Amino acid sequence: MRKKIAVITSGGDAPGMNACVRAIVLAANRYGHQVIGFKHGYNGLIENEYKELTVESVQHIIKLGGTILKSARCEPFTTDKGLTTAVNNLSRNEIDAFIVIGGDGSLRGLDRLSKHWDGQVIGVPGTIDNDLSGTDNTIGYQTAIDTALDSIDKLRDTADAFERIFLVEVMGRYAGFIALASAVASGAEQALFPESIEDPHLELESIVQHVECLRKVKGKSSIIMVIAEHLWPGGVTDLAETLTKQIGIECRPCILGHIQRGGAPVAYDRILATKLGTYAVEIINEGQSGVMVGEINNRQCAHKLNYVYSEQKALDPYLVKIQQNIFDVVQCLNQTKTL
Ligand code: F6P
Repeated sequence: MRKKIAVITSGGDAPGMNACVRAIVLAANRYGHQVIGFKHGYNGLIENEYKELTVESVQHIIKLGGTILKSARCEPFTTDKGLTTAVNNLSRNEIDAFIVIGGDGSLRGLDRLSKHWDGQVIGVPGTIDNDLSGTDNTIGYQTAIDTALDSIDKLRDTADAFERIFLVEVMGRYAGFIALASAVASGAEQALFPESIEDPHLELESIVQHVECLRKVKGKSSIIMVIAEHLWPGGVTDLAETLTKQIGIECRPCILGHIQRGGAPVAYDRILATKLGTYAVEIINEGQSGVMVGEINNRQCAHKLNYVYSEQKALDPYLVKIQQNIFDVVQCLNQTKTL
């Protein structure tokens, strides 16, 4: 049966969203489905602003960062009025299936919509944060790690030249996936993320101790600490000032910010986006609804929407152990004693 599919990209844009839109259009075309894209996330659905997505219109977008459909956060969609308008526009446009490529908030919104609309709803994990259960990687995460890594490597050059301490803030919303991965890959001396620290103020003493030990063990040399956003109230600028006062050595903050969301998607994200976009269309053909597509251990899967955003996804425990062991303070202290 031929269907009319609508798609949006929503919330924080992620490299690979375009590759996913392309895959949806190509797969849909193969089955004779029609695809339209609402613009600016849920806003376009409320405003009824959309464009036809044809095979021609998605040519060569696989390599583009950002999203050709534009993205946005949408406050009106959280209201009953906004939701009703969105549902009415889906019906008015005779949509059979609605695909949302986005992160936590966007998929929560989709789950809410599914309770008021009887078409098929499918989520696709598109966020640099990797904080959704039901998939090993979200689209955009691997590119964001590489982008952060590239910046941290550059920072190391200047940190080494001046023998400075740098505190690098990376994104991740309230999860430490980007922080941990970029810290391990860059050989950072310290990684602080929400999963490892309950109250950073209580841990300040051990953070200070850590830096002092590293200075003793390494001598006067560069130190890079990767810190997840939202971890320290006031961010890395405030933490750098606090540390500077405590240890008497100037610490410099560096916020990588939205740079992590931009750039061409790496091959991994293009391929993942292609697989998940295609799979989304396949499960629409099967009649599924209310799920997010994902990939676990290299196999495509689908999980209930409320599971993917409410079940906390764990960091790789082995990677956490490695990062903690390499620069363990106790070990560091023992080493100083034997020096
Ligand atoms: O969810 C993606 C993300 O980039 C998070 O890492 C970050 O906390 C947030 O979006 C920033 O949102 P905004 O671009 O709206 O400031």
